Amino acid sequence: MTKQNHATHKPREKWGTRIGLVLAVAGNAIGLGNFLRFPVQCVNNGGGAFMIPYIVAFVLLGIPLMWIEWGIGRFGGKYGHGTTPGMFHYLWKHPMAKYLGAIGIAIPFGLVVYYTYIESWTLAYSVFSFTGKYFGIQNHQGMVDFLSAYQGKTVNSYFNGIGTAYLFFLITLGLNVWILARGISKGIELLCNIALPMIFIFGVILLIRVFTLGAPDPAFPERNVWNGLGFIWNPDFRALTSAKVWLAATGQIFFTLSVGFGAIQTYASYLSEKDDVVLNGLAASSANEFAEVILGGSIAIPVTVAFFGLAQTQQIATAGSFDLGFFAMPIIFQKLPWGQFFGTIWFFLLFLAGITSSVAMAQPVMAFLQEEFKIERKKAALIIGSVAFFLMQPVIFFLKFGFLDEMDFWIGTFGLVVFAIIEVIIFIWVFGSKNAWKEITLGADMPLPKIFYPIMKYILPAYLAILLGCWFFQDGMKVLTMQGVPPENYPYIWFARFLLLGILGAFVVLVRIAWQKPHLIQRRIPS
Ligand code: ALA
Repeated sequence: MTKQNHATHKPREKWGTRIGLVLAVAGNAIGLGNFLRFPVQCVNNGGGAFMIPYIVAFVLLGIPLMWIEWGIGRFGGKYGHGTTPGMFHYLWKHPMAKYLGAIGIAIPFGLVVYYTYIESWTLAYSVFSFTGKYFGIQNHQGMVDFLSAYQGKTVNSYFNGIGTAYLFFLITLGLNVWILARGISKGIELLCNIALPMIFIFGVILLIRVFTLGAPDPAFPERNVWNGLGFIWNPDFRALTSAKVWLAATGQIFFTLSVGFGAIQTYASYLSEKDDVVLNGLAASSANEFAEVILGGSIAIPVTVAFFGLAQTQQIATAGSFDLGFFAMPIIFQKLPWGQFFGTIWFFLLFLAGITSSVAMAQPVMAFLQEEFKIERKKAALIIGSVAFFLMQPVIFFLKFGFLDEMDFWIGTFGLVVFAIIEVIIFIWVFGSKNAWKEITLGADMPLPKIFYPIMKYILPAYLAILLGCWFFQDGMKVLTMQGVPPENYPYIWFARFLLLGILGAFVVLVRIAWQKPHLIQRRIPS
């Protein structure tokens, strides 16, 4: 029945090669989170203290979720669905299922709306490094002012308005739309085949530069690269009792692996029915961890410790997520021979990491429009680009009122865990743990260790529920009640919340409309 129905539809797109697939999923995961967010989280949470909960979260939560999402994705692809409404519809024969699946499109699309703007800053900064625009600014405050004027928050001798930032934003959005319009194998896979090796080459060049720095200032011999590395790698078991460190480490695992987004499922839906999921999922996660811990961790932290010392590095990291990458690093590049070159490749590496993730986050909504509304690929890319453009305006113009941060908390921190809980319940508990295990291990190129069965069934949902509860009471309540937010920002924060609800509501309505289309319902009759 299913096969027959499928025969009447255009075949779904597929990945061109296995290596292309692994690079694409790695590119989906490897992003700004690896090079900007990880170093800051690690420094802020005590370095070696952070690494233990981080590794525990990777094994108990990151890898199992990765396999679950690959399993759900490949399963959905078999029925012609690249997004979670259709996937959940088959996993749980309940009218609610498809609406819960709408969250798996709203989250990645919401992320695209603000992530793409940050990505555009990295492109701009690689050009500024190349031309030496910020060279001459020697202190942290100077770099803070530079970024703030670039973002149009203030005016200074470097920027007298938001024009430059807007131009880079348009270029970045245009590139994303162009890649999406080219499709899976000729767009995303090709991009990742080029970008991922470049990320690793640039990363290794920067790593070698960092490792050969020693102690750059003879007056401060303790400010050296090895003390920076020691700070990350000397384990500190006291951290195991700190809830804050556990939450930060677990949040980082979610963000960096792109789990709980809804995006991995879409990539996995382009697999063939018996393509391996276990080894591919592990390979992509390992590539991400290499990029995060080895490259991300060994560039920004040791270099900042070598130039500023440990105490100041910690101060810089506490100030914000971008402070190591956007403020400390540009000052350091100015002290290095060939600084413009190193600055250019650092920011261009960030840009490549960013774009391979942003196209992945936009692909679920692409698949949704193409499959559920039969919209042609190029048209779908243009629609998404236009809607995203429209929604990005408040992110750009209300940045200084905390608009982006508000979106980031509800989507990038809270939403991911909520969605992860939903998918684990639907796949492992409703569809059934035995069926889920069979689905994941089908066609596997390596045996899936049996220990992961109880981990997926019991430990993972319990871990997620505790995490969500802790987050809500520790951070969520503060955010919800706008603690510490200046009153003049309130209207913008409310606007951000309504926008998020609007995005979710719009996808729920679209799912409803799609499910009322008779030609599509026919395809959804299970075999
Ligand atoms: N996983 C992506 C990142 O790390 C979203 O930036």
